[in-house]
Amino acid sequence: LPKAFGAGYKVVITAGPTVEDLDPVRFISNNSSGKMGYAIAQAAAAFGAEVTLISGPVNLDAPKGVRRIDVKSAVQMLHAVEDYIKSADIFIGCAAVADFRAETISPVKIKKSEEADTLTIKLVKNPDIVATVGKLESNRPFTVGFAAETNNLHDFARAKLEKKHLDMIVLNDVSNKAIGFNSDDNEVTVFDKDGQIAHFEKQPKPVIAQYLMELIFKSAKKKNS
Ligand code: PMT
Repeated sequence: LPKAFGAGYKVVITAGPTVEDLDPVRFISNNSSGKMGYAIAQAAAAFGAEVTLISGPVNLDAPKGVRRIDVKSAVQMLHAVEDYIKSADIFIGCAAVADFRAETISPVKIKKSEEADTLTIKLVKNPDIVATVGKLESNRPFTVGFAAETNNLHDFARAKLEKKHLDMIVLNDVSNKAIGFNSDDNEVTVFDKDGQIAHFEKQPKPVIAQYLMELIFKSAKKKNS
């Protein structure tokens, strides 16, 4: 890949799921495999960028030449992002961050009671990582989010772009099992504040990642010039 696209850029990427503990043996998580985020990290590095990949628990090896920081929960992911974001030129939030976590993590295994047929666990909102970056007032990098949607795809994606102060959003139709979560292929539509700027038909995630990184480097350059 032409190194000139990414040379000199520092890119921070989140990938994979977050895992929110309920007790020592149980948790809330989701089906993100990390394949999309890892493919983006690999493509960014191949274009010559310096890449930091902040990853939830996944079964993948870090792409060559990429600095990988392992985290578990959304709060840990936010802290890791804050450690690396100040010097970043581009931030890409590809992780499937849990929107909620348990208000308290039980230090011992939660037991069933004889009397109650229901169990209530109070969930509290997690911080929104990509929105925290999008709303930075100084040293704000070019900020790219993903939108995993099952319905009202375009409207929800554009609403997230605006609400989270993003420069670009990549829409994933996760109602289609052949693409999105845990699949080897993806198909995405990309928006910026002026509307749809690209659509990439179903292809292996590494191919989609190359198209996306080329678009992101070009757009970040245009914005900075
Ligand atoms: O990992 P794979 O199996 O390859 O699957 C890839 C993918 C489907 C996970 C990926 O392509 C994708 O769509 N990632 C975003 C998943 C998601 O959580 O989407 P969302 O619409 O709920 O969130 C919107 C954006 O806000 C995302 O950039 C997300 O990273 C970010 N977010 C969400 C919640 C939160 N608390 N903090 C965040 O930063």
